[in-house]
Amino acid sequence: AVRVDLDGLINKMPPGPEKNKFSKEMDDFYRLFTRYLHEKKHSKPLDWEKVRGPKPEDVIMYKDLKQRDIEDVSPLLNKLAVLKLNGGLGTTMGCVGPKSAIEVRDGQTFLDLTVQQIEHLNHVSGADVPLILMNSFNTDEDTSKIVQKYTTHNVSICTFNQSRYPRFKADSNLPLAQNPENKPGLWYPPGHGDLYESFANSGLLDQLLEEGKEWVFVSNVDNLGATVDPLILQHVADTGAEFVMEVTDKTKADIKGGTIIDYDGQVRLLEIAQVPKAHVDDFKRVKKFKIFNTNNLWISLKAIKRLVESQKFDLDLIVNNKSTDDGTAVIQLETAVGAAIKHFDGAHGVNVPRSRFLPVKSTSDLFLVTSDLYLLENGQMRLNPKRMFKTVPVVKLGDHFKKISDYLARFKTPPQILELDHLTVTGDVSFSSDVTLEGTVIIVANHGAHIDIPRGAILNDKVVSGDLRL
Ligand code: UTP
Repeated sequence: AVRVDLDGLINKMPPGPEKNKFSKEMDDFYRLFTRYLHEKKHSKPLDWEKVRGPKPEDVIMYKDLKQRDIEDVSPLLNKLAVLKLNGGLGTTMGCVGPKSAIEVRDGQTFLDLTVQQIEHLNHVSGADVPLILMNSFNTDEDTSKIVQKYTTHNVSICTFNQSRYPRFKADSNLPLAQNPENKPGLWYPPGHGDLYESFANSGLLDQLLEEGKEWVFVSNVDNLGATVDPLILQHVADTGAEFVMEVTDKTKADIKGGTIIDYDGQVRLLEIAQVPKAHVDDFKRVKKFKIFNTNNLWISLKAIKRLVESQKFDLDLIVNNKSTDDGTAVIQLETAVGAAIKHFDGAHGVNVPRSRFLPVKSTSDLFLVTSDLYLLENGQMRLNPKRMFKTVPVVKLGDHFKKISDYLARFKTPPQILELDHLTVTGDVSFSSDVTLEGTVIIVANHGAHIDIPRGAILNDKVVSGDLRL
C-alpha cells in the first residue's frame, strides 16, 4: 500500500527533471522504509557484551600527528572541498529560517564566517578550496539569498538540496501527503546521513572527482570550531584512510553525543538511542566512553561514490516519533552521517582539542561566542589569550533568554567575562551595558520579580536574588 501511495504521489507530478529527482527520492525513501518494517520485526538489540572501548589505533591523539610546514600541505588543499551541513532551521533559538543565517558575532552569520574562513585559507595557501552547502527544502531559498553576495569573492560556493521524505502515520504507515506539494508538516529532511545519496544524486560528487578533488571535509554549519586543519588533512593523505572522524574528550555535559566503539572488531559509532536501557548509565559514564563525535569528518570522495553505488551502504536507522498539530502520531525515518564509519576502509578517529567543537545550540552558547572570551580572526574564533584558564565558563541562561530576540533585549552589550567560571541566570533579568562578571555568579529573579543589573556593574562571586531594581 505504501509503494502504491508513493507511486500515486510521483504520478501527480508533470514529467521533467523535477519529477525524475522526486521519483528517485521516493525510491530511496522506500528502501529506508522497507528496512524499518524489517527491523521492527527482526531487529536484535545491540549485544552489549560485544561493545568495547576503541582499540588504541582506532583513535589517534591530535598531538601525535606529524608536524608539517604549511607549504607541504598546500598541494593537498587543492584536492579538498569543504561541505557544511546546512539543512537545519534555527527554531530552537526562536528563529525562522536557516540556522546558518543567525547573526553570531559582530553582525555576521554562521555562513558569513564560514565564507571568510575559506576565503582566507585560499588567500594564504594559493589553493582553490570550494565551499559546498547541503541545504534542505527548508533552507535553500534563504541560503541562496545570503550566498549571492559572495559571487565576486575568492571562493566558489556550490549548493545542492538534500532529499525530501514523506512523514507517515504511525498506525497505518501511510504517508500524510496527498500530493507532492511541499505543504508544512507533511515532509522532512531525513537527517544528515542523507548527505551521501543526495550528494551523489546531485551530480556534484562526480563533478568534484572530475576536477581532481579527493576529499571532502564535512561539518555542522553551526560548529564555529570546524575550520580546515592542514595537519589532519595531511594525516588523512598519509594514512590513506577513507574516513576520519574528529572526536573530542567528553565532559559531564556531553552525555548525548555518539562515541566510537569496537564492535566485534569493527570500528563503529554508538549513539545513545542504540544503547539497551539497562546500559544507558554505563554509556553516559565519562570514564568508559571518553570521547564523542564532533561531526567533523574527512571523507574520501571516491569511497563515497563506490559505497553509494554498491547499494549496500545502509546507515543505522533513527526512528523519530513526532506528532502533528492535530495530535496525529507520525514517524520520520532519519540517518546520521557519522554512522557510515563502519563502511569505510581504514576508518578511525582523531582526538582533537575541544576548540574544534564550538557549536551554538542555545543562547548560552551564543553568550560565550559573542563575548570577549573569543577573538575573531578571518572568520575563525580564537580563545582570548588574556583568559588565565584554558577552560570555557559554564553558562546557564534560563527560559527568559531562550529566544534570540529576548536574549538580545536582555543584554544591552555582551558582558565582559574573561574571569568568569560559572553563570546561572533565571527569571526576568536584564543587563545594562559594560557589565563585568567574574568567578561564580548566580542571578535569580523570583516569580513576578525583575532584576536590572546596572551599567558598569562588576559582579565577582555573587549571588543576586529577589526583586532588585538598582
Ligand atoms: P542536528 O539537528 O543533528 O544537530 O544538526 P545536533 O548537533 O545533533 O543537535 P541539536 O538537535 O541541535 O541539539 C547538525 C547539523 O546537521 C544539519 C544541521 O543544519 C546542522 O548543521 N542537518 C541536520 C542537515 O543538514 N540535515 C538534516 O536533515 C539534519
